[in-house]
Amino acid sequence: MQLDDLYRQVIMDHYQHPRNQGQIEDGAVSVHLHNPTCGDEITLQLAVEDGIVRDVRFKGIGCSISIASASMMSETIKGKSLEEALELAEEFHRMIRGEPADTERLGDLEALQGVSKFPARVKCALLAWNAFERAVQEQRQERRA
Ligand code: FES
Repeated sequence: MQLDDLYRQVIMDHYQHPRNQGQIEDGAVSVHLHNPTCGDEITLQLAVEDGIVRDVRFKGIGCSISIASASMMSETIKGKSLEEALELAEEFHRMIRGEPADTERLGDLEALQGVSKFPARVKCALLAWNAFERAVQEQRQERRA
C-alpha cells in the first residue's frame, strides 16, 4: 500500500469514528471557534489537573480534515503534561507549514502532513489546535484570577 493511501485511510477512520467527541461534565474550560473561510466550527473542552491534560473533548461541524485533526489531536495530547501538549502543538504547526518537524512525536497526526501543500486546507487542520491553545490561555487566566 502506498503511504498516501495509508494516510488517507487514517484520516477517514478518524473522520468517520472521531475519538473524544462529546463534552466534559465538570472542571473544563470551553472554547468555541470557527473557520472564517467556510464557517465550520468547533467547541473544544479542556480539563487540566496538576499540569496534566486530564481530558479533552470536542463537538463540531467540519470537513474530514478538521474533524480528523481534532480527533487525532485529542488522542495525542490526552494524558500528556500541558507543556508537552503545547510542544506538540508547535510541532504540528511546523509540520503543517511544511517546515522540518519531528513527525514521529505526532502519532497519527503525521497523516496530515500532505495538507501543507494545500494552503486552503491548512485552516481546517489548525482549527482544533487553535481552540486547544486558546483553551490553555483561558485555563491559565482562570488560575490567576
Ligand atoms: Fe471547513 Fe475544512 S472546509 S473546516
